[in-house]
Amino acid sequence: MSVIKWDDSLAIGHKGIDAQHQNLFDLVATLHEAIINENEQMDIKEILFDLYKYTSLHFNEEEALMRKTKYAHLNEHVAMHDEFVKTLDTLAVTARHGDIHIEKDVLNWLVSWLVNHISISDKKLFICLGH
Ligand code: FEO
Repeated sequence: MSVIKWDDSLAIGHKGIDAQHQNLFDLVATLHEAIINENEQMDIKEILFDLYKYTSLHFNEEEALMRKTKYAHLNEHVAMHDEFVKTLDTLAVTARHGDIHIEKDVLNWLVSWLVNHISISDKKLFICLGH
């Protein structure tokens, strides 16, 4: 069973951003399944790189929106994004240099970060933007 499942209560009311959040959930769920099913290392690496690329795309888009609207909590929000990217970056660097072994704790951290960030910080952002 997946550790992460999209729930409509997480929707923030912006069609494009909600779709991106769902895709992030799907990628983390795919990564989780690949790990518990002990898939090939190459599969896990590919999923991890996809998650890294998609996360960067999503954060860049959200940060551009925050800059455009002069969002008051921009720096605080970007710092949270950076924390998530730093963790993915560490995993991606490990994967690039050999076998990747993702601890359950790290996976759980990715999941709870995503759920908390979307349900609290992203919701606050989009409420401020009038969504
Ligand atoms: Fe949707 Fe702030 O990440």
